[in-house]
Amino acid sequence: MPRLFFAIWPDDSARAALETLSAQLEARAGGRIVPAEKIHLTLAFLGEVSADRADDLVKAADKVREAPFDLVLDRIGAFRRARVAWVGASEAAPGLIAVESTLREALRARGFELEERPFTPHVTLIRKADKTLSPEAIEPIAWRVEEIALVSSEPGSGAYKTMARWPLKAKRSRKT
Ligand code: 2AM
Repeated sequence: MPRLFFAIWPDDSARAALETLSAQLEARAGGRIVPAEKIHLTLAFLGEVSADRADDLVKAADKVREAPFDLVLDRIGAFRRARVAWVGASEAAPGLIAVESTLREALRARGFELEERPFTPHVTLIRKADKTLSPEAIEPIAWRVEEIALVSSEPGSGAYKTMARWPLKAKRSRKT
């Protein structure tokens, strides 16, 4: 069964900047670069989900009502045990927190089990790193977030397939 996750994907200019940064991090930490087309920020990891739960996933994602927002990635860091190096934000955008918490709550309400760990927004750029990078500020990378995606990671190949996408939209103001 494929493993599913909700994530956001960088726009073209953010992707290009992240690709450049990946090469710099690889030179320092070794390991394997995440291919540019696979670079993303995970909002919620679901693991294996049976096909009959698709409707519930759609309903959960429909609950997200947030306007598009800007992310600013301005620091690098690493998870030593997972051997990954990542880029993240010193201050998480309120839009990102709102999207993640709404999505998570809606998924939990429909019985999906998610990790209890607090959300640590990060974009993994290097896997199987030889060295653990110390946290460091970087030249900020701007990323305009316009939509969220439900993605499957195929067993074996690890290829990603986008199953569905939801454009971000602000709440409709109520007409009086
Ligand atoms: P990572 O980038 O820190 O490895 C697809 O595997 C995405 O889901 C990755 O971005 C991965 O985060 C994230 N993820 C979160 N929890 C996971 C888990 N328990 N197993 C695999 N991937 C997980």
